[in-house]
Amino acid sequence: MQQKIIILDFGSQTTQLIGRRVRELDTFCEILPYNKFPHDDPSVIGVILSGSPFSVYDPEAFQVDLSRIRGRLPILGICYGAQFMSHIWGGKVEPAGSREYGRQHLTSVDTENPLFEGFDHGSQVWMSHGDTITRIPQGAHVIASTETVENAAYHIPASNGEKEVWGVQFHPEVFHSLQGTLLLKNFVVGICGSKQNWSADSFVETTVKELREQIGSDRVILGLSGGVDSSVAAVLLNKAIGSQLTCIFVDHGMLRKNEFNDVMRDYECLGLNVIGVDASEKFLGDLAGVKEPERKRKIIGRDFVEVFNAEARKITDARWLAQGTIYPDRIESLNITGKVIKSHHNVGGLPEEMHLSLCEPLKWLFKDEVRRVGRSMGMPEHLITRHPFPGPGLAVRILGDITREKVRILQDADDIYIRGLREYKVRLSGEEARRVLAAGVPANMENGEIEVSLYDQIWQAGCILLSEVRSVGVMGDERTYENPVALRAVTSSDAMTADWAHLPYDFMAKVSNDIINKVKGVNRVCYDISSKPPSTIEWE
Ligand code: XMP
Repeated sequence: MQQKIIILDFGSQTTQLIGRRVRELDTFCEILPYNKFPHDDPSVIGVILSGSPFSVYDPEAFQVDLSRIRGRLPILGICYGAQFMSHIWGGKVEPAGSREYGRQHLTSVDTENPLFEGFDHGSQVWMSHGDTITRIPQGAHVIASTETVENAAYHIPASNGEKEVWGVQFHPEVFHSLQGTLLLKNFVVGICGSKQNWSADSFVETTVKELREQIGSDRVILGLSGGVDSSVAAVLLNKAIGSQLTCIFVDHGMLRKNEFNDVMRDYECLGLNVIGVDASEKFLGDLAGVKEPERKRKIIGRDFVEVFNAEARKITDARWLAQGTIYPDRIESLNITGKVIKSHHNVGGLPEEMHLSLCEPLKWLFKDEVRRVGRSMGMPEHLITRHPFPGPGLAVRILGDITREKVRILQDADDIYIRGLREYKVRLSGEEARRVLAAGVPANMENGEIEVSLYDQIWQAGCILLSEVRSVGVMGDERTYENPVALRAVTSSDAMTADWAHLPYDFMAKVSNDIINKVKGVNRVCYDISSKPPSTIEWE
């Protein structure tokens, strides 16, 4: 049985990060809403209570009955989690005199306590709370303090073999708590007894076995997009059920230059059974003259469903629709009203109409884990490290109406830009190197530095054709009156927020020159320096 840690989500921004850190300890974990603890699941070995935007005194604060968990499983409360347990178990929480926020250092720490084994005195931790624990829970003792936070961490021992409770008011999951990973390891491995056997290889092995049991001899349909998630899902299913899987890859005419053929070739090399559908005439025909971004998106969505469904219906004995849905698409992040703020979307209408069951083999994985799984199955690196690309493709990067000529111009400019990003190498160290490695980019650390391409350093890049704008230029002796192209490159970890990438000037100079000289129809190149929020990654 796969051991697991349950993280109960009380709505903190950093709950997903706790999940990431536990997975980095090669331990499986699930993030569940604060009130959805799986009491009947025997594979749970420990529980972590997350932080929250609420104070324990807010009338809307999330409350939960922990009486069935306490004593049965080890519990670690983080920030609100620690305050909540104080609040309900005889301690006291009060507004902090001043907000306890940012870097602090542990002025005392009990390194004999299993939670703090190996900790340094003075270790830096990260606080972020408006309330503070003024009295710890009954039976607890303080195991760490900072200059301003006396009850920075507490421990409630237990007798008769009952499991114990720990609370920390700082955030071990964030990077600025420098020994935070050690604390989580002490809890997950030392206290809960994780065997640390969750890995890409073990995931592939168990998932293949489960898929075979789940699917039996049924047929499965999967929509491929050329992106990492659907490609890895397809290869995993192919490993499990081979020719029972049929993949459908729709070309809507607004993919990147040569992408349809290149990706089809990759898929065939991987042994996938893929039907490629060239529906570009239909999409471009239906989009003719349409300028309004939302209408363009609606038409593409509708056409996609029509084309996909028409193909899928030919596979009359299909019983399953497989999708590359990943964990961040599904986590029921709670906003402060308790509503689900992110839900996942699937191919519209198809499962209901054809009575297909959903199969989502990657639904427990984070993006970098999907990449690791792809690598462990021997998929080519260029498929695995591919940037995200929007479903409507270049349609949301051509401002105004779409024509074949505009698509051609944008494809050519984008091709120069993306090739340039792949060819330009940079050396990274420190936090930047750590971030790139954590995203699953393969690179060797030498003398504290790694060498990666600009492409691998950033989250996502692309060109936007400002086809509603024209400006004057001069080429040779000729006056030109053509469109500008904007370059966009962003750094991000989940596309929810993003910052514009600080690309080197010599790189931008070369790309701009190449695009203006080689792409007929473009006489000016700009760089988009907007972050998200308030902008978005795509322009439409
Ligand atoms: P925005 O523009 O909202 O984009 O900041 C966030 C991320 O989502 C991608 N994106 C899409 N992906 N279908 C998709 O599959 C879409 O309609 C779509 N729109 C945006 C975008 O490329 C970025 O990674």
